[in-house]
Amino acid sequence: MVRSNIKGRFIVFEGLDGCGKTTQAQLLADYFSCRGAEYLHVREPGGTDVGDKLRQILLDPDTVLTRWGEVLLLAAARAQLVQDVIRPALVRGMVVVCDRYLFSSLAYQGYGLRQDVELVRQINLEAVGGLMPDWTFLLDIEPDVGLARQANRRGLDRIEQRDEGFFQRVVEGYQLLAKEYGFITMDGTAPIQEIHRQVVDILESENTL
Ligand SMILES: Nc1ncnc2c1ncn2[C@@H]1O[C@H](COP(=O)(O)OP(=O)(O)O)[C@@H](O)[C@H]1O
Ligand SMILES: [Mg+2]
Repeated sequence: MVRSNIKGRFIVFEGLDGCGKTTQAQLLADYFSCRGAEYLHVREPGGTDVGDKLRQILLDPDTVLTRWGEVLLLAAARAQLVQDVIRPALVRGMVVVCDRYLFSSLAYQGYGLRQDVELVRQINLEAVGGLMPDWTFLLDIEPDVGLARQANRRGLDRIEQRDEGFFQRVVEGYQLLAKEYGFITMDGTAPIQEIHRQVVDILESENTL
């Protein structure tokens, strides 16, 4: 069984760059630490030695990479993160919050880059040994909102530099995935604290904390 020895809780934030994933994950970190729960926040791609090297390659605007190369490097980083970090933490009973998970590959490389979504899914399910989150929160924003928030802070990375049509397909992909996987979709333009409150309400209502 994929989750037979897992006691912890696995929470994922998904959505476009700039939608507020890291902001919400950090607020949850404070929330859990106030309650004495063991909490781990990881982000994708990265979080392991190999993953951080792959992240540099993947996000460097000078990297030239085929589409399937991109799918496979992301899956490699994810496989390492799950094996070395996420799964051991869940087995110990920790709350693990992940900024992006395999749904990002389905939305960006599958729908956005128009690669075979089923194949992207199979590769990634294999890479993570079938481990799926307990909750996935999708922070929904239009591409221009996310790009404006990101551009204010730093330059755009290789994937963020793609055209508007790409991001529109990613948004539509996320909407399909939300139905398929039962994501909890939140309005990413709502005030930060309001979104946090809603996330906490949902987690508390399901009696996890
Ligand atoms: N709900 C929100 N409303 C307005 N600004 C936000 C909101 N959530 C996040 N931000 C801001 O947008 C920027 C990107 O947020 P971040 O959490 O880093 O996004 P992500 O991790 O999804 O790329 C940050 O400057 C953050 O303060
Ligand atoms: Mg982030």
